[in-house]
Amino acid sequence: MKQFSYKNTQIAYTDQGKGSTIFLLHGFLENLSMWHVIAPHLAKKNRVVCVDLLGHGQSSCLGYVHTMEDQADMIHALMSHLRLRKISLVGHSMGGYIALAFAELYPDHVRKLVLINSSARPDSAERQLNRDRAIKAVKQNSDLFIQLAVSNLFMPERLKKHQVAVNQLIKDAKKTPTQGVIAALEGMKIRPDREVLLHFGPYPKLLIAGEHDTIIPISEVKSQVETTDTKLVILECGHMATIEAEQDVIEKLTAFFK
Ligand code: MLT
Repeated sequence: MKQFSYKNTQIAYTDQGKGSTIFLLHGFLENLSMWHVIAPHLAKKNRVVCVDLLGHGQSSCLGYVHTMEDQADMIHALMSHLRLRKISLVGHSMGGYIALAFAELYPDHVRKLVLINSSARPDSAERQLNRDRAIKAVKQNSDLFIQLAVSNLFMPERLKKHQVAVNQLIKDAKKTPTQGVIAALEGMKIRPDREVLLHFGPYPKLLIAGEHDTIIPISEVKSQVETTDTKLVILECGHMATIEAEQDVIEKLTAFFK
């Protein structure tokens, strides 16, 4: 694990392999260890940087709201620190929102873009209300909130099959500081619409979606990539394609980065 100092906070990251660089961005309540199987596969032919996002894993909090742009600025600073000019980004869920914010802020630095179980659309009014409810729940009992939130990410009938991974996710998620959890919820709540990037982003774009994803419904994903040149791959899984359909995700990413 490496450390990078950013605006007086510590950012943890890993750096492996050689070649054109891919940044892997985890989702809400996750940390860079979620890529422990996928990263070495990609690192056979690429340099792969996995980052603990602000307020997650071993990276500190920067404030009480971590906007997607704050996170993207941190990724840009890390990219510059590593003396890289262009990177590919792969983001899972919130990591995808951040990859899109990076692509909007720093289009010249993007080589390829992959969203996994993610969306370019903003929160609906209902979803924003749910964020506020979630913030209340976290303040009341963070562990209980995390337990429920993580279990909801999987297809219910697959929960048993992935019990070990689910338990590990819950264990890791419980280490996320309450400030980090709330700052991420506040940040996701106010993220803008970035659908235009799926239409006009001048780099190859791939969206990997879960047929049974309850957080990012498949109908919403289909309608946003329609009439764009973004490639859509739909897998038989819920919100955690990286665990539920790990081998498929590895195959699709390997092919995309060939
Ligand atoms: C995530 O997995 O990063 C979040 O569930 C995404 C979200 O809540 O919108």
